Amino acid sequence: MHTVVLGAGTMGRDIAHVCAVAGHEVTLRDVDEGALTTAREHIAANLTGGVERGKLSEKDRSAALDRIATTTDLADAAGADLAVEAVPEDLELKHAVLSEAESVVADDALIATNTSSLSVTSVTDALADPTRGVGLHFFNPAYVMELVEVVIGERTSERTRERAEEVVVDLGKQAVTVTDTPGFASSRLGVALGCEAMRMVESGVASAADIDAAMELGYRHPTGPLELTDLVGLDVRLDILEYLREELGERFRPPQVLKRKVRAGKLGRKTGEGFYVWSDGEPVRPADR
Ligand SMILES: NC(=O)c1ccc[n+]([C@@H]2O[C@H](COP(=O)([O-])OP(=O)(O)OC[C@H]3O[C@@H](n4cnc5c(N)ncnc54)[C@H](O)[C@@H]3O)[C@@H](O)[C@H]2O)c1
Repeated sequence: MHTVVLGAGTMGRDIAHVCAVAGHEVTLRDVDEGALTTAREHIAANLTGGVERGKLSEKDRSAALDRIATTTDLADAAGADLAVEAVPEDLELKHAVLSEAESVVADDALIATNTSSLSVTSVTDALADPTRGVGLHFFNPAYVMELVEVVIGERTSERTRERAEEVVVDLGKQAVTVTDTPGFASSRLGVALGCEAMRMVESGVASAADIDAAMELGYRHPTGPLELTDLVGLDVRLDILEYLREELGERFRPPQVLKRKVRAGKLGRKTGEGFYVWSDGEPVRPADR
C-alpha cells in the first residue's frame, strides 16, 4: 500500500512511522523542509527506542525507515492508495490540502483527515468525491496509542467505512467507529470528566492529587483527569470546552479555575505549572492544596 501523509508535524510524523512499520510505502509531505528534517530525525529516534525496548528488530527498523520518503513535492504522492491529512486545524487549509491530494492519488484512494475538532463532513466537503472521505483520528503519540477513531461523515460511503476500519486494524490499532459529532467519542467524554474534576477542585471537594488518586485507584484510570489536563495543556482543554459548549450546551461551560490558570500562563507541564507544579516532566507537588 502506498500512503501519503500530508503534514509532518506532531501527528503526521508519527502516523508516517506507524504506516511504515505496518509495511506501507510512505510519502511524508510538508511545505516546510525543516519540518521534514525534524520528522525524519524524530521517527529514527523513536524507532531506535522501539529496538531498545524489544518492540522491533534492527532490520525492521531500517526497513521501516527506508519505506519513508520525505518531500515537499506533492507529485511524489501520485497513485497513493491512502491519504492522511495532518495539517493544522484550519478548515480552509484542510480544504486546499485535501483537494490538492485528491488530484494526485489513485481514483479509488481512501482520503482521511486527522482533525480532532472540526466536522469531518465539512473537512471532506472539499473533495470532488466526498464518499471516500473519512476521519482517522489518531492519538498522540500515534506510534504508542492503540486507539484510532474512525469518524463517519454525512457523505462517507459504507465501503469507505469498511476500508477505513480495515486500514486501522492493519496498522495494528483498535478502531472505534463514531458518527461525525463534536468531540467524537473520546474528547467528549474525556473532557467532561476533566471539567467536573476542575469544578471539584474549585469548590474544595478535594485536592487535585486526591481527585486524581480517586480515579486512578478507584476506577483504574492510568492517569487522573487533572494530571491529564496538565499533560494535554490547559489552553488546549479550554479551547475544546469552548467549542463543545457552543455545540453541545452549558454542561461544557469552562470552569473559572481553568480560565484563571490559562490567563496566568499556567498551562500545565509545558509551562511548569497547571493543576500541579512540574519538574523534569513530572508533577512534583499539588499546586492547589
Ligand atoms: N497534536 C495532537 O495531540 C493531536 C492529536 C490528534 C489530532 N490532532 C490533529 O492533527 C492535525 C495536525 O496537528 P499537529 O499537532 O500535528 O500540528 P503541527 O502544527 O504539529 O503540524 C502541522 C504540519 O503541517 C504542515 N503544513 C502546513 N501546511 C501544509 C500544507 N499545505 N501541506 C502539507 N503540510 C502542511 C506544517 O508545516 C506542520 O509541519 C490537526 O488537525 C490536529 O487537530 C492533533
